[in-house]
Amino acid sequence: MSHDNVLLRISELQKSFGGLTVTNNVSLDLRAGIVTTLVGPNGAGKTTLFNLITGHLTPDAGDIFWNGQSIVGKSHYQIGRLGIARTFQDLRLFNHMTVEENVLTVMEPSAWIWQPGGSRARKARKEKVRHILERTRLADKAGTRAIDLAYAERKFLSMARIMATDAKIWLLDEPASGLDRGSYELFLELLRTEVKQGVTVCIIEHNLDIVVGISDRIAFLDQGKLLADGDPAAVLKDPHLAAIYFGDQAA
Ligand SMILES: Nc1ncnc2c1ncn2[C@@H]1O[C@H](COP(=O)(O)OP(=O)(O)O)[C@@H](O)[C@H]1O
Ligand SMILES: [Mg+2]
Repeated sequence: MSHDNVLLRISELQKSFGGLTVTNNVSLDLRAGIVTTLVGPNGAGKTTLFNLITGHLTPDAGDIFWNGQSIVGKSHYQIGRLGIARTFQDLRLFNHMTVEENVLTVMEPSAWIWQPGGSRARKARKEKVRHILERTRLADKAGTRAIDLAYAERKFLSMARIMATDAKIWLLDEPASGLDRGSYELFLELLRTEVKQGVTVCIIEHNLDIVVGISDRIAFLDQGKLLADGDPAAVLKDPHLAAIYFGDQAA
């Protein structure tokens, strides 16, 4: 088994809910320093795959390797501490905390607002948060409660939180869904900068402009099966996949 650039290896992964197989013998390598995009229709099993990687679900069979070491059976916070971070489709922000507090809570291992380190460390954390909020255009909302943000701002707060983790790999669950064009251009710019700086990304995305604009590789899931995994142009050109993806619109 080669470890060439493979940060996370998913091997023959299997998961069913009752009689419904939602992850059906999936093997997929996430390579370091690139963007792998997971595409596929609703219900294909994309979010489930993230849940299996992050320990929010346990696979029925198969294995997941992080830098060659199995992580199956670890809890979600242990997996987070290894450097695997995610966002959620439903964001899961702390609605009644401010934007700044939402970002502060994810910083440093087992971090919380009352973490140790004294005033100097606290100042450094605040400075880092300020920088992240500037990059996500939330600087003037630092004191606003998450619940009072506009939709796009909530999506960017979710991004700001993952930026603060210093994780090596980001699993992003539809981070750009519902964004207007201006916002998703900003999102793409942000992501490209992070990838250039060394972050590895696996993103679930439907918008083809974004898929084309960001992907180094595309993995196509349908009904729990990985139907394709490769070069974006080749995957997107496949008429069989297009028919599944676009349904009636294809043809
Ligand atoms: N905890 C669960 N219990 C039962 N069924 C689930 C659960 N999570 C997901 N599913 C089902 O698994 C399938 C895949 O869901 P999901 O991974 O969320 O798809 P996607 O993210 O590709 O839209 C769907 O049919 C969904 O209803
Ligand atoms: Mg999903």
